[in-house]
Amino acid sequence: MNESMNRKGRNSNAETMESTDPLSMLKEDHSNVKKLFDQFEGTDDEREQKQIATKALNELKVHAAIEEDIFYPGVSETVDDTELMSEATEEHHVVHFLIDELESQDLDHDTFHAKFIVLAENVRHHIKEEEGEMMPKIDSDEAEMKELGRRMAERKQELMENPEALSRKTSRSSTKRAAQSRQTSADQKTAKTSGRSASRSGSAKDGDSGGRSSTRKSSSKPSSPRASR
Ligand SMILES: [Fe+2]
Repeated sequence: MNESMNRKGRNSNAETMESTDPLSMLKEDHSNVKKLFDQFEGTDDEREQKQIATKALNELKVHAAIEEDIFYPGVSETVDDTELMSEATEEHHVVHFLIDELESQDLDHDTFHAKFIVLAENVRHHIKEEEGEMMPKIDSDEAEMKELGRRMAERKQELMENPEALSRKTSRSSTKRAAQSRQTSADQKTAKTSGRSASRSGSAKDGDSGGRSSTRKSSSKPSSPRASR
């Protein structure tokens, strides 16, 4: 990425970028949904909790659809971290699963409450990784990001005006994309293993523990809530 060109572009289009910068859009969504989680946890009023949860689920569905349909495909190549992108997709899959259960089952309040708290924990973790690890790795140029932001804003508007368009479609597309990501990740791991085998062909007795190439496993996993499961 040409930094000086991007800086110049950002300055001259600051106002336009403000409304179409995809990262700002996503971070604003993240902030809104985290506030709703805090509100949910900050009240014992069951009716109020249900209202807050309904709002949070709707916002999450729109947000997830935009990420899955436009943002992830738009940045995955420049992020150049298949494991990170696959993990994000799998996390979306879990979120959709929980949303489906929260919406489609006639749950008693305690179960609804417990499921929503689990959803909130998962989404908070997901947001942390998306903002802390994925976003810094994006290396798209100014024009690509602007176009991405424009498409995301357009799609968001459509979904907010026509929420039925989300329904189960998002869930199915998430499942399909998660399966594709699993395959891509498996292919990449196979390629890495082949590469390691080839490079170690002259010293096959080396221990295997030092051969793992994923930095994500050592750097980010200990903080993951899933690490304790
Ligand atoms: Fe996400």
